[in-house]
Amino acid sequence: MADLGNNDAQGPPTRPSYFIRTFGCQMNVADSLQYARVLENLGCVRAESDESSDILVVNTCSVRAKAEEKAISYLGSVIRERALNRRESRSSARGGIVLVGCMATVRGNEILRRFREVAAMVPARELESFEDRITSLWPELVASAFDDRTSPLPRPEERFERFVPIIRGCINKCTYCIVPYARGDRLESVPPSRIFAEVEGLIASGVKSITFLGQNVCAYGSEIESGGYGFAELLGDIRDRFGDADVWFKFLTSHPRDVSDDLIAVIASHPAFSRHFHLPVQAGDDEVLRRMGRGYTSAQYVGLIDRIRATIPDSRITTDIIVGFPGEDQSAFERTLETIERIRFDAAFTFLYSSRSGTPAEKWADPIPVDEKKRRLGRLIELQNRIALEKSRAKAGSETTVLVEGPAMRAASKASGMVAGRTREEEVVLLGGGADDYGRRIRVRFVEANLRSFTAERIDEKSTA
Ligand code: SAH
Ligand code: SF4
Ligand code: F3S
Repeated sequence: MADLGNNDAQGPPTRPSYFIRTFGCQMNVADSLQYARVLENLGCVRAESDESSDILVVNTCSVRAKAEEKAISYLGSVIRERALNRRESRSSARGGIVLVGCMATVRGNEILRRFREVAAMVPARELESFEDRITSLWPELVASAFDDRTSPLPRPEERFERFVPIIRGCINKCTYCIVPYARGDRLESVPPSRIFAEVEGLIASGVKSITFLGQNVCAYGSEIESGGYGFAELLGDIRDRFGDADVWFKFLTSHPRDVSDDLIAVIASHPAFSRHFHLPVQAGDDEVLRRMGRGYTSAQYVGLIDRIRATIPDSRITTDIIVGFPGEDQSAFERTLETIERIRFDAAFTFLYSSRSGTPAEKWADPIPVDEKKRRLGRLIELQNRIALEKSRAKAGSETTVLVEGPAMRAASKASGMVAGRTREEEVVLLGGGADDYGRRIRVRFVEANLRSFTAERIDEKSTA
């Protein structure tokens, strides 16, 4: 392994640089921040790019074959670029690549064998061992070569919004899903006192939107003998402590089976709580749901949505749907379409079933040709897009509050002085503005609805005051 640190014996040591490339879900985004913090505490500085960094951390996802293919092709190309860079001596030969995340758990050894440039891996379920792995690879990092350590500044995108994992692992073992293997099939909830301390620190540092994360966030506390202290109780305490702190509290992901009336009531009880529920339905056919191991029927799911909407009429409901689960026949698929028509989701992530090694469904007969599955996915997307657009268009003219995050990403909008932000319910909004607006909440009126975003105009604050 190439050395880090004192690359020039004459001058002062240059700090090793790091770069983190993140694939996958919000949990990975939250973990990447933690890896960054560990590296910066060890004296590393953020690199400009992945190919020029000394240490490159690749945080991976295994949820579908495509997610894994993306990471593998990324590894192949970044390794080529890093080698080229070194040959042309645009960067030193220090450091190496560290594979982390879900793929490191389920396919780490295979990747270590395949890519010799990958120096080490740290599985997602062994997050805490990251620092030890790094310092055993590059011991000079702990040799206090860099005592002028400063605490790292948050990246611009983390200044106002933060993910806070409150429960790790998943015990549901849906029959298609790799997550319990990749992330652990034991639940581990963060103690409330630690969550309160973290929230307090984030608020003090100017964070305006906090998303509590868990594979199944509603299972919070269920593994401890906690006298019934669960997610609803946690949110009740959050409200009592931080309800007036000008911060929004969001949460992700909720398993439909675990959303209680108490939880709905506590969310309804305070405007600091987002009324966005991401409730993956997966399918609309009871037999498919049973074989997926989801623990609810279609009628129970619909009943839950009705209860949420009765208590919180302005709730925003989004979902995940899998098409082509083994044994899903035409009539089962039609029932998924019926469920979508019945519920009218505000948005949905739709996926083609992807067989995952080691899951129960991997072994199940799957006679439906992939072209047929793709055709069904197309129908489903078409229906869902129509509904989503109808629902968004119905909001034109209505007023809401946007937390501005930064410049609009699309080149055209950027050029025309647009900024982008999100509502409390996670709607993406573009509006005219500039750098002064970043991190501010602004009252707006929706002007135009697109499939995945709105454009909005400011409401003159003086005239509405
Ligand atoms: N913990 C969350 C999300 C897990 S993964 C939850 O349970 O809701 C996010 C989504 O990926 C799932 O909701 C599911 O729709 C999809 N997914 C998971 N495994 C899949 C697979 N093998 N093939 C296709 N989609 C899958
Ligand atoms: Fe996967 Fe099911 Fe757990 Fe979600 S609840 S992570 S879909 S096993
Ligand atoms: Fe992917 Fe792991 Fe998240 S498999 S979806 S990164 S929990």
